[in-house]
Amino acid sequence: MKIVVHGRGTMGTIVKNELGENCFFVNEISEVPLEEENCVVIDFSHFSKIERMLKECKNRKYPVVIATTGYNGDILKNIIETSKEIPVLLSSNTSLGINLLNEMLKDITPKLEETFDIEIIEKHHNKKIDAPSGTAKTLLNTIENSLSEKYNVVYGREGICKRERAEIGVHAVRGGTVVGEHSILFLGDDEVIEITHKALSKRIFAAGAIECAKYLEKKEKNLYTMEDMFKDKGER
Ligand SMILES: NC(=O)c1ccc[n+]([C@@H]2O[C@H](COP(=O)([O-])OP(=O)(O)OC[C@H]3O[C@@H](n4cnc5c(N)ncnc54)[C@H](OP(=O)(O)O)[C@@H]3O)[C@@H](O)[C@H]2O)c1
Repeated sequence: MKIVVHGRGTMGTIVKNELGENCFFVNEISEVPLEEENCVVIDFSHFSKIERMLKECKNRKYPVVIATTGYNGDILKNIIETSKEIPVLLSSNTSLGINLLNEMLKDITPKLEETFDIEIIEKHHNKKIDAPSGTAKTLLNTIENSLSEKYNVVYGREGICKRERAEIGVHAVRGGTVVGEHSILFLGDDEVIEITHKALSKRIFAAGAIECAKYLEKKEKNLYTMEDMFKDKGER
């Protein structure tokens, strides 16, 4: 299997450096020679490039790990449709730690929802284009799915805006060179539980994405998450 690194930006370069010579490092899938059949794509590009990449992956039957964030609902629909024809793994954060944190939230949210308010704070470098981060959206989604009732999501607060009980606040901080921090706060009467994941370097995302590509090589067409990968590994 050869890995195609799609996106020649910061993350693409780190993945390429981890892989050494044994990969294609491209801006477009069409740059990979047509005779290369046994490839898996790792996508760290820009959301505006996802649909063109999917079309090419579908034509060539290349499984694809989509690590790019910031895409809208239409692109997500396209991703889901494409996964009916080729294996696709979607992950807004390919670090092991964040995925474990996500699992923890499924366990603790139902236990805390009665008596604790829930807020999410994420921090990223000043070059990040989307907010809140794709990871914050994933963590939010996990919390929402673990609650027994529908909560209102409030992005930032300003002015007269007293907190409701069934509400989750989501806050994005941008500045400096912060690689990525995600905190989930459970705030109760006289006690606060705060769970924080800090990415200390971008290499953790590259290593996780390469793991995903190795996993996807052996899979049938479908839409996968890192949760599926960990479950499969646990069962082996
Ligand atoms: N899943 C994860 O764990 C994870 C971790 C980190 C980052 N990410 C996501 O991965 C993606 C890439 O991150 P990065 O740090 O490598 O970003 P980056 O350095 O900005 O590189 C992005 C790539 O997309 C291209 N690009 C940038 N802006 C574009 C535009 N407006 N239109 C078309 N192409 C554009 C760049 O091409 P040029 O080089 O030609 O400008 C480059 O190839 C982002 O969506 C980021 O949020 C995900």
